[in-house]
Amino acid sequence: MTMRVSAVAHGKINLHLGVSAAREDGYHDLETIFQSVALEERVDLQEVPPGEQVKVTVSGRDSHLVPTDPSNLAVRAVAAVQQWYARQTVSAVPQVSIHMHKGVPVAGGMAGGSADAAAALVAAIEFYGNQHPETSQLPAPEREEVHRMAAALGADVPFCVLGGTALGTGRGDELVSVMARGHYHWAIATDKRGLSTPKVFAQLDKMRESGRSLSKAGSSDELIRVLHSGDPEELAPLLVNDLQAPAISLLPSLRETLAAAQEAEALASIVSGSGPTIAMLCRDAEHAVDVATAVSVAGKASSTMTTFSPAGPARIITAHTEGE
Ligand code: C5P
Repeated sequence: MTMRVSAVAHGKINLHLGVSAAREDGYHDLETIFQSVALEERVDLQEVPPGEQVKVTVSGRDSHLVPTDPSNLAVRAVAAVQQWYARQTVSAVPQVSIHMHKGVPVAGGMAGGSADAAAALVAAIEFYGNQHPETSQLPAPEREEVHRMAAALGADVPFCVLGGTALGTGRGDELVSVMARGHYHWAIATDKRGLSTPKVFAQLDKMRESGRSLSKAGSSDELIRVLHSGDPEELAPLLVNDLQAPAISLLPSLRETLAAAQEAEALASIVSGSGPTIAMLCRDAEHAVDVATAVSVAGKASSTMTTFSPAGPARIITAHTEGE
């Protein structure tokens, strides 16, 4: 008898990302509007019989860049749920192998790692809480405990669990869902050099300290209002990201991709989160293909793709037992 559970979670774009001064704990308070995109990460958990080896494997986009050691966010998410159950029982908690199938660019500012963590968390809660005959008898973590586990894994993980459109404050992990009509279409340009999120935040602090003039995102109220209309032309001028200038200062060639997007008549282009992925807002799906093609031909991006937003929450896609 082998139990398997699979879950998916989506990457994100920050439509508005306002960053305050660094806090004592090294994090920055944010005012951000997250929107999930249709690019997704899938995490499969499979029961491992006692004594057999637990495996961690990765396939899909950029999979060779993903560590499979205990630092992997999906591994840490499963471990957090196992630790919860270990505290509820004297018996050994059943072990699982983890497979990730990646669809979100790695180290790109689109929360690929956080989506792995979110999918793994949701899958592990289903596996241990609802499916496994031993652990499903034990008290399951409550909603607040799941949120606490998600936030401890990373600031973007709670949003990857929630999906849709949300206002994030605090570290970005205090969330309120926002009403949004319709779908937005995007061309996405990746840069395989990646950017480290802490370095981009540190660069913003440095640029602010040195007084290099930097625009600061104001309130997100107007953007929230415009999301009710579903009109990309109205949304375009409101896209803003305080991390864009530091990302470009660390990777100046991003300017060329932004210029190529403008040339291709994207409605607006923005560095996604801490970058270096660039999200280009388009009129519709066909326009997104045209912009992605033009930016690809311009030759500055490592790869291009298209997607739409918003997508939904992290969710279970299969849960079954084989060989009963
Ligand atoms: O929480 P997560 O591990 O995803 O954050 C990665 C890094 O990004 C943090 O260590 C911190 O340097 C930076 N960060 C921040 N303020 C936030 C979110 C992330 O400074 N609100």
